[in-house]
Formats: sequence, C-alpha cells, structure tokens
Amino acid sequence: MSVTRISYDHLQGRQKQLLDSAIEATSNSYAPYSRFYVGAALLTAKKDIITGVNVENASYGLTVCAERVAIFNAVSQDFKSFEAIAVSIKNDHGFLGEVGYPCGACRQVLREFSSLQYDKHLEIILGPSKTGDVIITDIAFLLPNSFGLENLGMDLSRYHEKP
Ligand code: THU
Repeated sequence: MSVTRISYDHLQGRQKQLLDSAIEATSNSYAPYSRFYVGAALLTAKKDIITGVNVENASYGLTVCAERVAIFNAVSQDFKSFEAIAVSIKNDHGFLGEVGYPCGACRQVLREFSSLQYDKHLEIILGPSKTGDVIITDIAFLLPNSFGLENLGMDLSRYHEKP
C-alpha cells in the first residue's frame, strides 16, 4: 500500500508511455456537461494498451467514468489481467491544478481486476497536474479493507493469470 508523488519528467519510460496514452485519450472524451475530460489507459499483462474516456449523457446519472470504460473495453477484448492504469484529466484550461483521484465506483471496479489476492499488483498512475506532478499508488491505498471475490469464497485466478 503506497502513494508517491513524482514529477512527470522522472517517470520510467513505460510509465510515461502509458500516461501519454491516457493524456492522448482525453481528446476523445465526451464531456459536454462537466467539461472535465478524462482519459484512462490500461497496460495489459500482454503489454497491450487499452484506453477509455468518460462518456456523459443529458441524463447526467448515466455518465460512465473513463476508468470503467477502459476496463470494460479491455475485458470485451478478452484482456482480464492488467499491470497498470494511467488516468489523466483536463478541463478547458488544460491539466488541473492538482492531480485528480478515481471515484469510489471506479476504485471498486479496478479492485476486481487488481488481483489483491494473487501475486500481482496494479500500479495506478494519476496526473499530471499543471505543475507536472504525478501520483503513483495502488488499490490497497485507494480502497483499503475492500470487498472482493474472496469474500464470496471464489477463486477466479484463471481469469487473472498472466499469459
Ligand atoms: N470522471 C471520470 O471519468 N473518472 C473519475 O474517476 C472521476 C470523474 C468523469 C465523470 C464525469 O464525466 C466527469 O468526470 C465529472 O465528474
């Protein structure tokens, strides 16, 4: 369980590449109501990058966040094992003053695929802020004492195995 603040320039190459994919995805966001443009990029265990954006609706409550769209997009393409997710947010003025964190619903969905109960660890990369700050954290930090498949007595390791 950890949370680290690091400058974008000090990210490792693979982290930068994933975050750049999330940043690029923000331009596909459909957010005419909040004008809060979110992009998410998942790195699969097979090293593919799958993206998602927030999709809003005139019936506001139907909005789906970028993180969940990325996960559902990846699962639909039969990727169910992930190494990292990057999430980036812009508004009409560019990056935000402070790094934004995933909402509670997305934390729970990420938790389903973070394999807390297995030997893997889903790295969560958030940012950058206007000043270039990036947060690197994990689900144990974002959602401590969470509810998951092991509480239902299930072992779904076949879904979470590395290729
Ligand atoms: N949003 C995300 O896409 N991810 C989050 O984790 C927080 C919020 C979106 C939903 C909505 O379209 C806009 O940001 C404002 O809440």
